[in-house]
Amino acid sequence: MNQTISASDWASERGKKWRDQLPGMEAMIQPVTAPLIEALALDGPLRIADIGCGGGGPTLAISRHAPAGSAVHGIDISPDLIELARGRADTAGGDIAFHIANAESAPPPGAPYDRLASRFGIMFFDNPPAAFSNLKSWLVPGGRIAFAVWGPPVNNPWMTSFRDVASQIVDVPPPDPDAPGPFRYAGEETLFGLLEAAGFDDLDIQPWRDRIPLAGGLPAVEAADFALKAFSLGDALATRTKPP
Ligand SMILES: C[S@@+](CC[C@H](N)C(=O)[O-])C[C@H]1O[C@@H](n2cnc3c(N)ncnc32)[C@H](O)[C@@H]1O
Repeated sequence: MNQTISASDWASERGKKWRDQLPGMEAMIQPVTAPLIEALALDGPLRIADIGCGGGGPTLAISRHAPAGSAVHGIDISPDLIELARGRADTAGGDIAFHIANAESAPPPGAPYDRLASRFGIMFFDNPPAAFSNLKSWLVPGGRIAFAVWGPPVNNPWMTSFRDVASQIVDVPPPDPDAPGPFRYAGEETLFGLLEAAGFDDLDIQPWRDRIPLAGGLPAVEAADFALKAFSLGDALATRTKPP
């Protein structure tokens, strides 16, 4: 069973799965949004790109906090998620646009940008050095980036406890820390190395710790149902064959 989630997975089935569970997914990671926006230092009318914007939740939040005259573009590889995000933008107001694009290779849809943001959307690139060099070319000189990524598995029991229980039922190979997936940049030196090689400088890390209640805090049975539908291992559990 392959637990790696690649960009092409997001462009197809994984994107659909995220879309189908969007309210729970966004409720779960909502607490990260405020520190991410603070790190963007939105100090004037700005052009801002939200990389791997998913269903647009972070893009809309950034737009709400951006000074008047700003333009915010959400960019995602999943057509299903961008379609949903566009529907939300219609009623949100503000100068918001959504583009279907692979942030690794696409020409910048609205570049140059003053700010690049991402809430957990930069961990799935097939070729991270090329992807971050590409993103660097989207940014004006003196521009600013703010990316949220997960810390190590030991600090994220909301993901690992599900994995531990599932491993009692189905075969779960050890995760590959260098493969595309949520813990790829759990060691800050990996991400810093990539960003520096791409030409970003003056890098800083802001640790963030809080509870991540499943789907935003559902009762246990509903939370378990959400996890089975939302997490990759849920598919393996659903299709497992019972031993004779
Ligand atoms: C964990 S989700 C986060 C979604 C959104 N940022 C949020 O916080 O709700 C990761 C997102 O990154 C997108 N993504 C992954 N690889 C990408 C790529 N190469 N180019 C653009 N988007 C990508 C996925 O389609 C997905 O929407």
